[in-house]
Amino acid sequence: MCGIVGYIGNRDSQSILLEGLKKLEYRGYDSAGVAIYTENGLQLSKAKGRITELEHRLQNEPLTGSAGIGHTRWATHGKPSDENSHPHTDQDRTISVVHNGIIENHLQLKEELEALGYRFVSETDTEVLSHLIAHHYEGSLIQAVRHAIGRIRGAYAIAVLSEHEPDKLVAVRHASPLIIGVGHGENFIGSDIPAILEYTRDVYILNDGEMAVLTREGVDLMTLEGNFIATQLFHIDWDLLMAEKNGFDTFMLKEIHEQPRAYRDTMRGRIDEANQSVVLPGMHLTDEQARDVRHIQMVACGTAYHAALVGKTVIERLTRIPVEVDLASEYRYRMPVVPDHTLVIAVSQSGETADTLAAMKEAKERGARVMAITNVVGSSVAREAEDVLFTLAGPEIAVASTKAYTSQLIAFYLLALRMAEARGTIDKVMLVEMLALLERLPVQVEEMLQRLQPIEQLAHQITRHEHLFFIGRGLDYSVAMEASLKLKEISYIHSEAYAAGELKHGSLALIEEGTPVIALATDERLLEKTISNIKEVKARGAYVIGIALEGNMELAKTADHVIYVPHTHALLTPAVAVIPLQLLAYYTATLRGNDVDKPRNLAKSVTVE
Ligand code: F6R
Repeated sequence: MCGIVGYIGNRDSQSILLEGLKKLEYRGYDSAGVAIYTENGLQLSKAKGRITELEHRLQNEPLTGSAGIGHTRWATHGKPSDENSHPHTDQDRTISVVHNGIIENHLQLKEELEALGYRFVSETDTEVLSHLIAHHYEGSLIQAVRHAIGRIRGAYAIAVLSEHEPDKLVAVRHASPLIIGVGHGENFIGSDIPAILEYTRDVYILNDGEMAVLTREGVDLMTLEGNFIATQLFHIDWDLLMAEKNGFDTFMLKEIHEQPRAYRDTMRGRIDEANQSVVLPGMHLTDEQARDVRHIQMVACGTAYHAALVGKTVIERLTRIPVEVDLASEYRYRMPVVPDHTLVIAVSQSGETADTLAAMKEAKERGARVMAITNVVGSSVAREAEDVLFTLAGPEIAVASTKAYTSQLIAFYLLALRMAEARGTIDKVMLVEMLALLERLPVQVEEMLQRLQPIEQLAHQITRHEHLFFIGRGLDYSVAMEASLKLKEISYIHSEAYAAGELKHGSLALIEEGTPVIALATDERLLEKTISNIKEVKARGAYVIGIALEGNMELAKTADHVIYVPHTHALLTPAVAVIPLQLLAYYTATLRGNDVDKPRNLAKSVTVE
């Protein structure tokens, strides 16, 4: 996830681009840059860090011109640095490109272009595009972009400015968002509406496979084949804050709805369709080394710890490697036994959590190989690890983690399948089946999000209570722990998650008339046993909300209300089962009038012990 902007008109483009980038900073904030056509030709300014860094640079060395493109980066390929910042150019610095997305076949294209004599200066996937466009340029920028796009695979929203044809900007979209703002004598490009809202409220929302050519006088929309398209202008009447949240009331709700996209991005380029296999570029762990692993230990905090609990079950089931999961704050001080051939996996959205970093260091000192699953390229956790598996959830603004958690689950599924392939503990039939089900998850979540509106009504049932319990067995218990944390951190209702089988060993004493109990019963193997536990709490007066797989009629006979989630492989079910529970926590908190994006006493990144 990154943000792109573009401007062509008669005003000073530098300030318009900078203002636009600031509005898109929520899409990425590890580096930023602009390319502007000036009286000295195409000029670039780029800086690692927040947009204010770029702003300082431009204050000292302004770029004057009325056409330009800009970018704020959320690193996916290559660490945050000046060189890796966008815009990227060809060798002659005549063509500049900003890109949001991932070019899956960039390594192959890079080799091809290097063989032709093109020199690369960055580690990014995007740079291939600038060289490709230059390579195909024969007097028409539109044609050159079209040819280059024809060579790339992946997701992209791009904007191109060339000094060969400085009176136009070319933009293309495929699987990454892009809008075109229409003004009077000026036109705009943005990844999202907030970037242009100050200047115009009339926009075209590009569809996949569409190209826009912007001049000062107007905008032409066409297919990649060059056929003109007549599209309706869309008039925006949102205010700026609504626009930043993409029309959602809060960042948390927006991020819940972004999960299908985050699943797709985290899987993108990691499933080799032709060979029906998982590939994890960027991981140094070879198949031979994967076969050599005898123990896995995981360290994480909070929600990331809950993702690791799911990861443990999945990895153990698929690879038969024993896995221990520790809270990082405990691991670092418990003098852990780290036998030979141990792989330690640290999980962290921010990549900056102090305890997780310390636990990684502890594991390293004890001789373990350390791998990280993190959302932030260039973060301390990513730098500390030998192998890194990035989640591609994009920046998470709401303090309560949603899309980062589910992206961590996707990363664990990919990792477990890769290791199982390497160790020969999964047969091809099961692998193919699991990959197909994994790839269906985004659509299943999309469908679920469309029909889960009634959860808002259900939230009324629990909002006045001060204590609430979640129960489940196996993976349902792991999801229950995450659901419980989500509810307590934003609604401030005291909630606990229990392994359903443990209730009668003590906690059952807490159940009284009307106590809400949320019972997860998606594991068909354990269904009968979970239903017995539900009957135990019902008999003590609990109000039970069940979570069951579609078509399950049993739970409805016992629970007061059942939320259904779609069928998938039992190991993948957490990635669907948690969604209604995120929404339940969300609506309960909003009914209580809480600030869900910034819950009291909490911070997004915990860089202290
Ligand atoms: C809860 C939440 C926290 C984080 C925890 C670890 O919604 O977000 O529990 O999961 O502070 O943070 P990271 O993953 O950044 O290490």
